Amino acid sequence: MRLPAEYIGLPREEALERTAAARQKLGKDVVILGHHYQSDDIIRFADFRGDSLELSRTAAGQKDARYIVFCGVSFMAETAAMLCASHQAVLMPAMEAPCPMAMMASVADAEVAWRHVAGAWGEENVIPITYQNSSAELKAFCGRHGGAVCTSANARAVFRWAIDQGKRILFFPDEWLGKNTALALGYSLEQVAVWDPGAPFGGDPDLDSAQIVVWKGYCHVHTHFTVAHVEEARRRYPGCTVIVHPECPVPVVQAADLNGSTSYIIKQVQAAPAGSTFVVGTECNMVYRLDREQPDKTVVPLTKSFCGTMARTTIAHLLYTLESLLEGRLVGHITVDPETTRWANIALERMLSI
Ligand code: 13P
Ligand code: SF4
Repeated sequence: MRLPAEYIGLPREEALERTAAARQKLGKDVVILGHHYQSDDIIRFADFRGDSLELSRTAAGQKDARYIVFCGVSFMAETAAMLCASHQAVLMPAMEAPCPMAMMASVADAEVAWRHVAGAWGEENVIPITYQNSSAELKAFCGRHGGAVCTSANARAVFRWAIDQGKRILFFPDEWLGKNTALALGYSLEQVAVWDPGAPFGGDPDLDSAQIVVWKGYCHVHTHFTVAHVEEARRRYPGCTVIVHPECPVPVVQAADLNGSTSYIIKQVQAAPAGSTFVVGTECNMVYRLDREQPDKTVVPLTKSFCGTMARTTIAHLLYTLESLLEGRLVGHITVDPETTRWANIALERMLSI
C-alpha cells in the first residue's frame, strides 16, 4: 500500500498542523507509540516512546485505546498486534517497514539449523531464543520449541533463564547481540559458535565446545561502527564516555565504556552530571535528539549511522493514518494469523515474565 498522491509533498508545517488536529479529534480512542529511532516530527506526537521492550509492554498494557498507532518497524508492530486485545487494532503508518536484520532469518532456514544443532546436542538440551527483531513466524517457532523472545534490554536475563535450566542456546538472528550477551555472562568466544545460513551445513560450526550457537545476522546501522571510530572519539573528546548498542560488533563493545539498549543509553546520559560528554554508537536520530534534550551535556554520534527503515514513517504517513481513522478507514492495519500468534505469544510472554 502506498501513500496517496495528495499526501506526497505536503508542506511540513501543514502536515504537522493537520496531524495535531486529527490527533486531538481522535482523543482516547488512539494511542501513538514511537520507537526512539523515529524522527522528531513523529516523536512529538508519541504518547509513549521507548525501546522495543518498553513498547511491547506498553502495547500489551493499553486496554482502553481502540487503535494503537505504532511508529517503528514491522517486527515491533507485529509484536504489538499479537500482544494487544482482540478489540484493538494496530496500525503502522509506514505500512511496510521490514527490518533488514529480521529478514536474515527465515523459519525454513531456522528449521534446518534446529535439526542440525538439536540433533547434535539433543533437543531436550537446547532452547531457541530469538531477538525481538525477527518475524512473527520465527517467534512462533521458538514458542513451539520451548523457547523465548528477548530484546537488547533483557537478553542477559533471558539467556540466564535458559542457562539456569542447564540448557544450551540457539540464538537468532543477531550474531553480535548473541556474542556480546554471552561474553557479558562470562562465556568465552570459543564457547560461541556461528551458524551461517548461507553456507552448507551452516558453515559446519564446532558444536562440541560450543554452549551457544548464534545466527550470522547483523544490523547494518550498528556494524557500521568500528574500533577506529572509538579511538578517534577518545582523541577528540578526552574524558568522554563512549556508549554503544549491543548490536555493535564485539570489538566495538569492548572498546566502549558502556553498552545497552536505546533506553539504557538515554538513562545513562540523563543521569550524568552537567558538563559530561557522551559519544554514542547507535542510530543518529536518537543521538541528535538526546543532545537537544540534554543541553547541559555534549552528546555526539560515534559516526553518523541511520536506519532507513525507521525513517519510512514520515509525518505525512502519520497524518494519513490519523485522517483515515477519522473517516472510518484502517490503513496499515497489522494482523498476524491466529496460529502464529498463539505460539509467538508463548515465546513473548515467557520474555515478559522473566
Ligand atoms: P532497542 O531494543 O534497544 O530499542 O533496539 C531496537 C533496535 O532495532 C536496535 O537496532
Ligand atoms: Fe533493524 Fe538495525 Fe534498523 Fe534496528 S536499527 S530496525 S535492527 S536495521
